[in-house]
Amino acid sequence: MLKFIPKRFLHVGQTIPQMNLTIVSGNEQKYNIEKSVDSIKFFGNKKIVLVGFPGAFTPTCTGSHIPEFIKLNDKFKEKGVEVVGLAINDPFVLKEFGEELQASIPFICDGTMNFTKAIEAGVDLTAHALGFRTRRFTALVENGTITQLNDEKGATMSDVSKAETILRLL
Ligand code: BEZ
Repeated sequence: MLKFIPKRFLHVGQTIPQMNLTIVSGNEQKYNIEKSVDSIKFFGNKKIVLVGFPGAFTPTCTGSHIPEFIKLNDKFKEKGVEVVGLAINDPFVLKEFGEELQASIPFICDGTMNFTKAIEAGVDLTAHALGFRTRRFTALVENGTITQLNDEKGATMSDVSKAETILRLL
């Protein structure tokens, strides 16, 4: 007999929920904070590589994970894809993070945790004194639907969530 397996957690085929997002974006020098951005409009008619990470200024996110996406951003653009980061941080922290890394990629600032909870992409990092955070993953989101997913299911980083891995799959 076929068992019904409920689909929990982030998964391929999942659609982006409708909610207001706070986005920081800018260029290498200056980032701006934009509030009340409709998630459906933000993800609509676009190919976005969404990069979940546990937090701005943590060693791995700052030293390798996000910088690799910044370095390869032009290659993503050549494939018609926008790279967008997602972390449970307030917009002021992510603005500093973007400017410090001279990132030129936008970030969804999920200080309320609402977006991470809605897409079930969280991880409990209490043991690291971080609390509930976005876990490390990459997802290709096409017109608001996840079509590819590379999920670390936690905070550690392996080849799974590396920029070059998802770039190769595009
Ligand atoms: C990091 O280095 O990115 C990290 C460290 C501890 C917890 C989560 C992330």
